[in-house]
Amino acid sequence: MTTTAVAHPNIALIKYWGKQALPGNIPATPSLSITLDTLSSTTTVSDSATDRIVLDGREVDDPKIRACLTLLRGAFDIPPLEIVSENNFPTAAGLASSASGFAALVTAVNAHCGLKMSEPERSVYARRASGSAARSIYGGFVGLAGPDWIAEPLLTAEAWPLNVVIAITDVERKAVSSSAGMHASEETSPYYEPWVRTTADDYLAARSAVTDRDFAALGELAELSCLKMHGVMQSSRPAMIYWRPATIACMHAVRALRADGVDVFFTIDAGPQVKAVCLPESLDVVAARLAELPGVLTTHAVGLGDGARLVTP
Ligand code: DP6
Repeated sequence: MTTTAVAHPNIALIKYWGKQALPGNIPATPSLSITLDTLSSTTTVSDSATDRIVLDGREVDDPKIRACLTLLRGAFDIPPLEIVSENNFPTAAGLASSASGFAALVTAVNAHCGLKMSEPERSVYARRASGSAARSIYGGFVGLAGPDWIAEPLLTAEAWPLNVVIAITDVERKAVSSSAGMHASEETSPYYEPWVRTTADDYLAARSAVTDRDFAALGELAELSCLKMHGVMQSSRPAMIYWRPATIACMHAVRALRADGVDVFFTIDAGPQVKAVCLPESLDVVAARLAELPGVLTTHAVGLGDGARLVTP
């Protein structure tokens, strides 16, 4: 018997960067994200003589997946499993493959082993594996904030169907993991303390902008959160400079479009890709503008998607 789950990556508009000095992978900052459609992780779990992990066709010994299984086994009776996971987009290129991967994994293991976990419980296990994964349990607009750090669905994808143009500027795997990068920022960036202190206000304002479907307000807050996070990254030692020339060209192009009255804003994660979030009527012009910039290798136009779910054979 096999069990398959699918989950989509999410993109944070208000960023999680930094962890509390507590066990359980607890973020230092609240975050707010949109779950995408089209891009997905599909994870199939089956019984096996020993644990076996196959990622994108290659058998791997992935410490974060092992740690996730160990954590689940601390609470539930789980036999040895074969886990086969495929992403239909480049792994570790700033497109949050760990978010969709762990949301799909926890959802598949939950069903396969009859653990009967609720969505909030799955969100907690996903978060402990990778903070952003907590949010991919849900679709649409999702918040992740204290005191319990369980993801909370804020608005469905259908309630406010935005689009995202992802501009790929580099397909190499990133050199520094998010966890290691966050640790460097916590220890060394002079801007880390003000970053953590001000994110709560950004989160509350963005939450209101989502509830009010106020695109301009959400865009302003999202660009601010993105640039503040990159300021922290760039002021860490060693400095994390994720931007390529094309990344910067995309930011300027988005701002120029906005000056011309197009509803669009950008966000960038721990990688060189730019995600331009826009209203559906602006999708074609945004996609065309980014695709013609020198250094933009490809663009993907996607919409907002649903949360992690089982796939029936
Ligand atoms: C820049 O969720 O990958 O994408 O909890 O250490 O696995 P870990 O970190 P991860 O960090 C995501 C960082 C980000 C911003 C975000 O998604 O909020």
